[in-house]
Amino acid sequence: MVRMQKSKRKRSARKAFLLIIISALLIFACVKTGLHGASKVGIAKAKHQPAAQDYLVLVNWEHPIDDNISPELVYLYEVIDSENATFNNAEHQVEHAAGSAANQMFAAAKREGIEGYIINSAYRSAAEQWAIWQNRLDQDPSYGSDPYNSPVKAMPGDRSEHSTGLALDILSKTHNAADDAYGSTVEGKWLAEHAHKYGFILRYPKDKEHITGVIYEPWHFRYVGVDAATEIYEKGLCLEEYLLGVYKDK
Ligand code: DAL
Ligand code: ZN
Repeated sequence: MVRMQKSKRKRSARKAFLLIIISALLIFACVKTGLHGASKVGIAKAKHQPAAQDYLVLVNWEHPIDDNISPELVYLYEVIDSENATFNNAEHQVEHAAGSAANQMFAAAKREGIEGYIINSAYRSAAEQWAIWQNRLDQDPSYGSDPYNSPVKAMPGDRSEHSTGLALDILSKTHNAADDAYGSTVEGKWLAEHAHKYGFILRYPKDKEHITGVIYEPWHFRYVGVDAATEIYEKGLCLEEYLLGVYKDK
């Protein structure tokens, strides 16, 4: 009888011990999973934190501009030294870093004896861009209907990277016309060869019209940052090829 009670107590003690061990293991597993889960969420959040300004934002026929972007705009006269370049509209604005980089670019050109740059256009609101677009449509109702075969010079109001504040149309005193010939001027050539060192790319190259859906624009420079611009320049890419890996034969 006494022995039976003893073995019963032993069994109960073993049961309790096992329960404690199992509970401890369960608690440990929950805590570990919880922490791991939390850290995973933390990393995911960190990864998706939007940069203050996305210099690699893609705005084109396939990628309308995000209404929520709010570039840090400054007036051109706040960042462009009039000794380095001029502009034809005192109201024009540009994204802050892009404008400062452009000023350095013009200063470098000047040191090499290339001067007289004029910024013809910079930031444009969607409303301004829609007006430009409408003007084109009034002249030709089929304008932009087949951009990869008939590339355009003006984008619709929601598809112009001028609305990011990161694009500048740069001409010069000696050639103040936005046409192909600007690419053959000393000023146009200097920009095409050196802009990447200051974070700019010639956004619409001659041989990429079938990818961009935009004509060759030797005056339109887009700020993407020095690293991306250098790679794009050295590899001879357009922004679509660089960002999306789109390589289309003509
Ligand atoms: N000229 C460029 C393509 C624009 O309209 O945004
Ligand atoms: Zn432009």
